[in-house]
Amino acid sequence: MCGIAGITGTDDAGRALIDALERLEYRGYDSAGIATHAPDGIEVRKSVGSVAALAALGSPGGDRRSGIAHTRWATHGAPSTRNAHPHLSHDGTTALVHNGTVRNVARLRGELTDRGITTTSDTDSEVLVHLIAWHRAQGVDALEAVRLTLARVDGDYAVLVITADRPGTLIAAASGSPLLIGTDGRAVHVASDRAALSSGCTHCSPVLDGEVVAVTAAVPAGRTWEVLTPGTTWTDKGSYPNFLLKEINEQPQTSRAAIGALFSPVAEGSAADWGSTLDRSAIKRVCFLGCGSSYYAGQVAASFVENLARIPATAEPAAEFTQRDPVVEPDCLYVLISQSGETLDTLHAHRYLRRHPVQTLSIVNVRGSSLDRESDASIPLCAGAEVSVASTKVVTNMQIAGLALASWLARADYGSKSAALLELDLALPILPTILADLLAGQDAEIRALAESVHAFRSMYYLGRGPSWPVAREGAQKIKEISYIHAEAYQASELKHGPLALVDPDHVSVVVAANDAGGQQSATLIGQIQARGGAVVVFSQHQDYEFDAPTVRLPAVHPLLDHIVMGVALQVFAYHTATILDRDVDRPRNLAKSVTVE
Ligand code: AGP
Repeated sequence: MCGIAGITGTDDAGRALIDALERLEYRGYDSAGIATHAPDGIEVRKSVGSVAALAALGSPGGDRRSGIAHTRWATHGAPSTRNAHPHLSHDGTTALVHNGTVRNVARLRGELTDRGITTTSDTDSEVLVHLIAWHRAQGVDALEAVRLTLARVDGDYAVLVITADRPGTLIAAASGSPLLIGTDGRAVHVASDRAALSSGCTHCSPVLDGEVVAVTAAVPAGRTWEVLTPGTTWTDKGSYPNFLLKEINEQPQTSRAAIGALFSPVAEGSAADWGSTLDRSAIKRVCFLGCGSSYYAGQVAASFVENLARIPATAEPAAEFTQRDPVVEPDCLYVLISQSGETLDTLHAHRYLRRHPVQTLSIVNVRGSSLDRESDASIPLCAGAEVSVASTKVVTNMQIAGLALASWLARADYGSKSAALLELDLALPILPTILADLLAGQDAEIRALAESVHAFRSMYYLGRGPSWPVAREGAQKIKEISYIHAEAYQASELKHGPLALVDPDHVSVVVAANDAGGQQSATLIGQIQARGGAVVVFSQHQDYEFDAPTVRLPAVHPLLDHIVMGVALQVFAYHTATILDRDVDRPRNLAKSVTVE
């Protein structure tokens, strides 16, 4: 899984490729590399670690007009220079970068061995470059050699290939993994996704599934081009020490933007926009599908739908959905939820659904992403670019989008004057202010709590009912950025097994919302403390005292309280991780966008 980029027709391909890799780094930062057309063939440069390490090797020279680049998240083989892309063919004639998976790599490697060609890396990708070169050695032209090679691949791919005998030409091909061609009026760019295209690009065109296309500095003819909005691709961290803190602190503004757009009667992103393309009368149930934090946000959103619209709603990890050969229900609205809109497991779930007569709705942050384009309708998250690997402001807006969907579904059945909807309409505009007060006023208190737990090596996050997905997301954040082992359980399940692990080396984070489940927390805390376990509490009860260190959070509205709690748990994870001196923007082993199965 990785990000790939290419450029042709520029003055300094080396510089342009490094810039593209910096934009692509959220797809992986295990290694990076570029291959350029040099005067005497192909020159490859690669390094382990971030793009900065590659840039430190220096520029390949201002005389390079074309080349390809790759940033890696290791799937086959450890992060090393040997396993870094671009891969060069055994005869030095061809270089390739690949995003995807070659499932039948063992078979293809065996065929190469039979022909006397030895691979030198542990990657699945390397076999492709040798096969292309082998076809060329049989007299096949470059485009056809790529076609013949990719026809043998069992798996998803986006690839870029250059050959020594065609300076200025990139060969682009995709199947199942996204790849876009962009133009800035001078150079032609290729990249895994829109965010990675140069901000100078004015138009883009997707490489279609199964397409193999030669890209030169002349804008490719016969394609469908989409106009791009300038200047929307990248961001910087301003005065913050890292993107994570910046993004956590942006939530008053980003939640306000989402509420303003998604609950407006007319704005882009309002129900008038996405709801008009759906047949509401056909929807009898709702199923949210997503991965990781997006799945947990889907779980919270499902509880909103059941609560407000009284329609059965569930959430499921997108990859598990396709694994189990599910019954696809024609009266179910399937909601695919994703920050990037490029997570392969979520795209696969959507493509599986596309084979059935069902309505699909996506909730995505990146406009123009694959999921945004492929679904029947799309709710935008209005959170702006999220750079840090750990999702924060987007998760909050996913829950707001869940509320917008639940309200739209409820309005059709109960009318806009239903008491529950009126109450929500009154409470929603206050949410950004509550978040601002929490971030400014309770930061020190939450940091002190983080100080008290950072030395524990294992944690439980415990919540009941709708607080359970909030606890799951809290545990996810602490795992991702502090590397402390953390598991979330429904509080009711603790005594049925997990309690066995509670001892003085173990801390439990109790998520006590202002509801019946929260009230039961006193008993839960007693059960943990009786076994010598430590407890800290995040509580929204205004008049309930717990016998453990407690951060008391404001309670706004029964549905919005979960969002407020989620933000407090983000701050808690952030402080725990920074006390432990972790790299919070780039946690080990992870990538922002997971584009492999
Ligand atoms: C969140 O902190 C994680 N980075 C991760 O779980 C993420 O939510 C998941 O990979 C799904 O990504 P998506 O929203 O881009 O589809």
